[in-house]
Amino acid sequence: MKTLTMILMSLSLILVMFFPSPSISSAVRCNPQDKKVLLAIKTALGNPYHLASWDPKTDCCGWYCLQCHSKTNRVIALNIFSGELSGQIPPAVGDLSYLETLFFHKLPNFVGTIPKTITKLTRLKSLEVSWTNISGPIPDFIGQIKSLNYLDLSFNKLTGSIPPSLSELPNLTELHLDRNRLTGSIPDSFGKFKGKVPPSLYLSHNQLTGYVPKSLGLMKFPNLDFSRNKLHGDISFLFGPGKELWKADFSRNLFQFDLSKVVFPKSLNVLDLNHNNIYGNLPQGLTSLNQLQFLNVSYNSLCGKIPVGGELQRFDRTVYFYNKCLCGAPLPAC
Ligand SMILES: *[C@@H]1O[C@H](CO)[C@@H](O)[C@H](O)[C@H]1NC(C)=O
Ligand SMILES: *[C@@H]1O[C@H](CO)[C@@H](O)[C@H](O)[C@H]1NC(C)=O
Ligand SMILES: *[C@@H]1O[C@H](CO)[C@@H](O)[C@H](O)[C@H]1NC(C)=O
Repeated sequence: MKTLTMILMSLSLILVMFFPSPSISSAVRCNPQDKKVLLAIKTALGNPYHLASWDPKTDCCGWYCLQCHSKTNRVIALNIFSGELSGQIPPAVGDLSYLETLFFHKLPNFVGTIPKTITKLTRLKSLEVSWTNISGPIPDFIGQIKSLNYLDLSFNKLTGSIPPSLSELPNLTELHLDRNRLTGSIPDSFGKFKGKVPPSLYLSHNQLTGYVPKSLGLMKFPNLDFSRNKLHGDISFLFGPGKELWKADFSRNLFQFDLSKVVFPKSLNVLDLNHNNIYGNLPQGLTSLNQLQFLNVSYNSLCGKIPVGGELQRFDRTVYFYNKCLCGAPLPAC
């Protein structure tokens, strides 16, 4: 009996040693350096109620708005959204060295600019600051965060021009700069993105001016949204049979070119050209775009018969109305 008890005791000791209970391991999960930085961030934000779970007595890996790596336990994601937070992006975020995701979303009382310290985040893949009141120019130094593959600075009050250095991000797949107050033209460097596949560009609802650089014609962009700017000229070079465009929204600009000879890529799903100065007639090739789900060429100077076939007669008249002399179904006969 005594030996059995001893065997059982040593067995349970072995079990405790090799399979520690979750309560023991979770007590030591939080990295002390990360905890220090997080508490500095909380202080910088004025100890908001939104971050009440950030209690120094508890494990930081269990705190609201963040995520630790399952093995290293380092903080890899900070995602602060929809809170009554006010102030600026705390420069201390740059000291969360293992961050891969940094999101500030729907924080209308967030003001100021993007701090330079974020360039220290060499593992950062996703950066989003959207629906805030941050202002000032898009900092040139964002081009230094080479690990980025997703950059979203939409719905803010950013001004100034788009920094050409963003084309130096080799893994960028999406760039959202829409709904700001950006001025100047689209940088020439956007025709020389470093990566294998260029990013989707969302630049709508700004005050961009000038011509779209010809260099962009060399890239196979998956999605382009330049709508609601003041861009000029001929953009027919953004199309062509070799492209892989899925969505092309160039509506509400000052584009002026002959649509008759444009060849659209087969991949096209969305083509919005409404409110420009586009002339000529609708090319026959539009009827062979099998994936076309959305078209709008209204409010231009187009003329001639709408080609018959493909998806073209499935759209309603508002897709074609307010042109110079377009005719045929779904518009009245020629
Ligand atoms: C932030 O923007 C919203 C919407 O434009 C506005 O109502 C609000 O007053 C702004 N807040 C600050 C602090 O500027
Ligand atoms: C870009 O992505 C590739 C593949 O995921 C990765 O190996 C490489 O390290 C990334 N480059 C940078 C600068 O992060
Ligand atoms: C096409 O665009 C015009 C102008 O913005 C709009 O009035 C019309 O409703 C649009 N049609 C469709 C089907 O989106």
